[in-house]
Formats: sequence, C-alpha cells, structure tokens
Amino acid sequence: MAMGATDRGAWGSRMGFVLAAAGSAVGLGNIWGFPTQVGRGGGAAFVVLYLLCVGLICAPILIAEIAIGRRTQKDPVTAFEVLRPRTAWWLTGLLGVLAGVGILSFYSVIAGWTLAYVWYTATGAVTGSQDAIGAFFGDFVSNGPLSLGLTLVVLVTTAVIIIGGVRSGIERVTRVLMPLLLGLLVLLAARAVTLPGAEAGLAYYMRPDVSRLFDMSVLNAALGQAFFSLSLGMGAMITYGSYLTRRQGIGGAAVWVVLLDTSVALLAGFIIFPAGFSLPGFDPGSGGPGLIFTVLPRLFDTLPGGHLFGAAFFVLLSMAALTSTISLLEVPVSHLIDGHGWTRRNAVLAITTLTAALAIPSALSNGAVGFFSQLPGLGMSFLDFMAIVWNEFALPIGGLLVAIFVGHIWRVDEALAELRAEGAAFPLGGLWGALIRYVCPIAILLIIIFTTLRTLAS
Ligand code: TRP
Repeated sequence: MAMGATDRGAWGSRMGFVLAAAGSAVGLGNIWGFPTQVGRGGGAAFVVLYLLCVGLICAPILIAEIAIGRRTQKDPVTAFEVLRPRTAWWLTGLLGVLAGVGILSFYSVIAGWTLAYVWYTATGAVTGSQDAIGAFFGDFVSNGPLSLGLTLVVLVTTAVIIIGGVRSGIERVTRVLMPLLLGLLVLLAARAVTLPGAEAGLAYYMRPDVSRLFDMSVLNAALGQAFFSLSLGMGAMITYGSYLTRRQGIGGAAVWVVLLDTSVALLAGFIIFPAGFSLPGFDPGSGGPGLIFTVLPRLFDTLPGGHLFGAAFFVLLSMAALTSTISLLEVPVSHLIDGHGWTRRNAVLAITTLTAALAIPSALSNGAVGFFSQLPGLGMSFLDFMAIVWNEFALPIGGLLVAIFVGHIWRVDEALAELRAEGAAFPLGGLWGALIRYVCPIAILLIIIFTTLRTLAS
C-alpha cells in the first residue's frame, strides 16, 4: 500500500511485521547492553533474573502492546484516547513519546561508535595488546567532535529512512540482516568457547552466584534490560502493531520476536565472556560501555582474516542498531502525524533536530567534557545517567501502566477478542490474562518501589 493521505503505512504481511518488530528488538541492547549488564550484575545470576523477567513480565506486555496497536490503528497517545476517551490514560502514550526521544539521544551515540569501528577493524587500527586496544577506545570516545559527528550520521540516516515510510526499507533490510547476524554470532561464539581459558568465562556466565539472585539492584537492572531489549514500555510495539491489519495474527508473531531477541542476547554473552576470560587479568565488571569494543577486537585477532570478520561484525551491528533507531524515532513521529496532523516529513525533521540537541551532552560525556563525563553528585556520565533514567524507570513504568490498562481498564476479555479476531489461534489466554492482571503489575511495582527506596537511601 502506498502512503495514504494520513501518511500512515502498513506491513506487507505478518512476516513483514515480525521482521520489523524483531529488527526493532534486536540491536545494541542485545549485543552491547546485555553483556555489559551481565558484567555489572555479577554474571549468571543476572542471566537467570533476565530470563524470568522476559518470560513472566515482558512477553505478556509485548502481546498487550501489539493488541492495543492493532485494535486502534493509532500512535500510542491517540490509541489510549480512542480506547478510553476523556481520561488521563493518554499520558501513558506521552511518556512513551518522550522516552523515544530520550533513548534515541544516547542510543545514537553508541550506534555511532559501532559505525566507526567498521572502519577501525577493517583497516587494522585496533589491534595489539589489551592495553593498547583499551587506550584506543578511550581516546576515540573522548574525541567530542568525532562522537558528535558520528551521532549525527546515525540520526540523519534514520531520518532519511523514516521519511520514506515504515515499510520500504525495514522489512527488506531485516530479512537479509537477521540470518547473517545470527550466523556470524554462532561462528564467533564457536571460536570464543574454544579459546584457552574460556571455561572460566562460561562458568561466570552460566553458574549463578545464588546470593546475587536476591539482590534487588540486579533484579531492577534485569527488568530494565528486558524492557529495553524487547523495545517495550514506550509504545514502540503499539506503533508497530498499529500497522498490522486484522488478518495478521499476534500470538505467533510475539513468540518469534521474543525467541529471536533472546537468542541474540544469549549468543552475545557466549562470545564476550569466554573471549574476555581468555585474556589475562580480565574483569567483566570494569568494562562498562566499552566491553564489546575492547574484548571483540582481541577475538578477531585470533581468527584468520580477523579484520574481515571484525568489519563484518560491526557492519551487521550497525545495521541492527539502525533498525532499532528507526523504531525509536517512529514513535514520536507517528504521534505528530496521527495526533496533530503533521506531515511525515515535518514530523521527522522536528523530532530529529530535538533529539540531536539532546544527544550533545551524551556524545561529550565519555571524556570530552569533564562535567558531563562525571556528573557532580551522581558520579556517573551523562550517557549512563540517561540509560538508567529511561531503561530502569521510564520503560518499566510505561510497562506497568500498559499492564494495568489492559488487565483492568480495557479488560482481558476485550483484549482476548482482539487477539483472537478473525479466528486467530491464541492458546493459553487464561494464563496470559493472569500474568497481565496480577503478575506484571505487582512485580514491576515492587521492583520500582525497592529501587526508589534504595536510591533515596544512598
Ligand atoms: N530494543 C532495541 C535494542 O535492544 C532498542 C530499542 C529500539 C528500544 N526501540 C525501542 C528500546 C523502544 C525501548 C523502546 O537495541
């Protein structure tokens, strides 16, 4: 379908939706974020909590978001207005629109780094000892103008694609990208686990330290990471669901998205930790945002033709990041189009400009400007601060509101009617209803309360 007068689009098929949703889900969150969080959260305990969050909390919310979108065929703000007019529920959508801008502003900085590493690995600029590779990364990210320029390249590329509409581009790119990415990750994991010293990495990654399973801060980070990785809690899946037609089923699509996203994250861990622990003196917790940029180049060095593998890896990672930035930008853009009658082009220009301005402090927060690199009183960089605010608070709160809305306001039977429209199969509806009504809201609320108390106490 061509873009109509309203500038709305639609997926060509259910497969197109699965590809776009998986493209949104699989990104830096899986390959850069997941191992970083595992390292900070103490290894396998984080992995266990993460999987629990995905299965019990995030998968049901993913289904709920898609159902809201397909039912209303609207952007997140308008969708809540359509389902419950003259109530304050539209604010849930607005939180999502703001989160889209907030997340994109730091996400595009890291996407810019992966873009630069295509060049650096291909030309052999990042090789040598672990210290040399670490110093290279440190010098690179503290170059403010370079980071800013790369961020702009990412944002402008995303904007150009989105001006073309949701369909053209995303479906096609993801169809080719996903199998290639999975293939390369399996190959790299196979190499990593056979390196000398890899066993220590596997143990760290797979044998949970039981005491950390009950650590609320690890649980909160796992929840935030699960939301982020599945692109939940800010209406991205409402927006993508709104481009589905009623003939396109939801249940099976959601299962595919969860399985693909989780496999890519788990595979990334099977690469980083065995490869990391094969290096002398490796400390998985100290890597921070540089973990993949400092461990992977060493891994590529151990492969024949490693430069090529490295460049291919960063090309695929950049593309995966791009299909995610597209979904982040699409949420605020769809709101200006549906809610305020803007043209797609003007909406994209306005939101991109705003995001670029907000990205400046993040781009300068890795050594370029002292104030942003070490925020006074917070002891963290502006980029880390943004990631925590949006991932660990805004997204779970958005998810909490979606669960309450679908479970208790719109109601499970209405939602199930949407999920089973046109005779679509949706087994385990009762289980889904119980999870969305009780498990999701209570679990998220408890986690948020504990985290807030802890933050206030410290
Ligand atoms: N899920 C993406 C990743 O893992 C990031 C992302 C894209 C996202 N769209 C989103 C996160 C919407 C939250 C909400 O890299």
